[in-house]
Amino acid sequence: MKQLIRDLARQKNAIILAHNYQPPEIQDIADLCGDSLELSIKAAKTRADIIVFCGVHFMAETAAILCPEKTVILPNPEAGCPMADMVTPEALSARKKALGNIPVITYVNSSAAVKAVSDICCTSANVIDVVNAQSADEVLMTPDKNLAQYAAGHTDKTIHLWDGFCPFHNNLTLKDVADARQKHPNALFMAHPECPPEILALADTIQSTSGMIRYAKNSAHRQFIIGTEVGLLYPISKANPDKQFFPASEKMRCTDMKKIRLQDIKNSLETLSGEIKVPEDIRKKALGAVQKMIHLV
Ligand code: 13P
Ligand code: SF4
Repeated sequence: MKQLIRDLARQKNAIILAHNYQPPEIQDIADLCGDSLELSIKAAKTRADIIVFCGVHFMAETAAILCPEKTVILPNPEAGCPMADMVTPEALSARKKALGNIPVITYVNSSAAVKAVSDICCTSANVIDVVNAQSADEVLMTPDKNLAQYAAGHTDKTIHLWDGFCPFHNNLTLKDVADARQKHPNALFMAHPECPPEILALADTIQSTSGMIRYAKNSAHRQFIIGTEVGLLYPISKANPDKQFFPASEKMRCTDMKKIRLQDIKNSLETLSGEIKVPEDIRKKALGAVQKMIHLV
């Protein structure tokens, strides 16, 4: 199956991108694995005609926003992101108006329609730079309250929160971290900024998914507790074969990130099913917010 998919991708001039949380067999057949920011940048630059995005809906949609001339495929259209569903363009526009039209910074974990009513996007890898690049003293951040509170600790600006969260990161508890630290007393604890503030306060480092992989590579430490979705354990262990990685909690398993199967990728390459399309008026507005972020990097 893996060879068949690689052959199909070559014949159709398709690139396969996979998020760091995807199952191992999918990461293994991908042309590139990475965090949200790296995959957006790769999508924007690729010469392939088809982008097969193995991740969740907002990630494929971001590729479709950036590459209107390409066919962008999400091999299982059911793969969504509960956090992205916690904000609508109508509710966001109303809140922005109520706050006196201050700039809106929107996490890429959001729909194209929400990006279209936002001033700039951010990812977990660049959130602090994006916030500090704003000339306004007050900003509204959506949808992730935890990411926004993390950014608030690294800026003088006033950040207004939206009440969204990732159900998996937000559920990591102090007890989970204490238990993991007790089992692995020599391990450093890395946390993703989608975790709640009381968890981030305990972290030895706060990183995006690819940031964690790089941090482990450059660290003299040999053991790490990983405070993000358990899918990261595969690429981080592969990139650091001489080091050990332990999940902060086995509960951190994103069901949507596990929805794509090899068979789905094969089917969608054969039939070009699962194409993600963004209406042109929304795409153009969302592109402004995504490009402002990419140009900051
Ligand atoms: P990264 O941008 O760090 O890859 O995270 C994406 C995500 O969905 C985290 O839950
Ligand atoms: Fe969305 Fe959380 Fe899954 Fe990331 S881990 S895709 S934020 S539900």
